[in-house]
Amino acid sequence: MNSVKNEIYFEFDAVSENESLARVVIAAFLTRLDPTVEQVEDVKTAVSEAVTNAIIHGYKEKGGKVVMQASISGGGVLEVHICDTGVGIADIKQAMQPLFTTDADRERSGMGFSFMESFMDKVSVESKLGEGTKVHMWKVFDDCAAETQPLLQAAVWNSDGRL
Ligand SMILES: Nc1ncnc2c1ncn2[C@@H]1O[C@H](COP(=O)(O)OP(=O)(O)OP(=O)(O)O)[C@@H](O)[C@H]1O
Ligand SMILES: [Mg+2]
Repeated sequence: MNSVKNEIYFEFDAVSENESLARVVIAAFLTRLDPTVEQVEDVKTAVSEAVTNAIIHGYKEKGGKVVMQASISGGGVLEVHICDTGVGIADIKQAMQPLFTTDADRERSGMGFSFMESFMDKVSVESKLGEGTKVHMWKVFDDCAAETQPLLQAAVWNSDGRL
């Protein structure tokens, strides 16, 4: 495994066709970790959910910019951050409850954050009303689990979700 940290920054318009682009970009970025098909699908799904949320909830489908920042550390930890500067979330804890949605009228199921949490090893959300939302996600890749455990623990302890 290459020990150098590799980071990407990808900014795109908050339109639904860019959701698939974000999925492709993260999948391509992951290849250096030699992931299984299942791991790739997990990360793509988590990214999709966060990007969709930014577009439909953050910006109410009126457009704006979404940033996807991702990095792979030498130890094999993938970090992905999906950020918008939309309306923000009033109560993050409530928003992350399974089945909670503010959009039931449009048949949303309220499972986006639950998918992110089940497909990634850790998810942390920062948000301020009127300023936007940052979703931080981490996933550890197998052959380096022991080496990276302290990094993940640091992420758990750090309440703002950053390493
Ligand atoms: N980026 C965001 N900006 C503003 N509000 C958000 C954002 N992401 C999530 N939310 C709020 O959190 C709620 C829960 O999000 P979650 O993804 O779990 O469910 P959902 O998007 O409503 O439904 P589903 O993802 O199943 O289609 C949303 O209904 C919305 O109110
Ligand atoms: Mg959602």
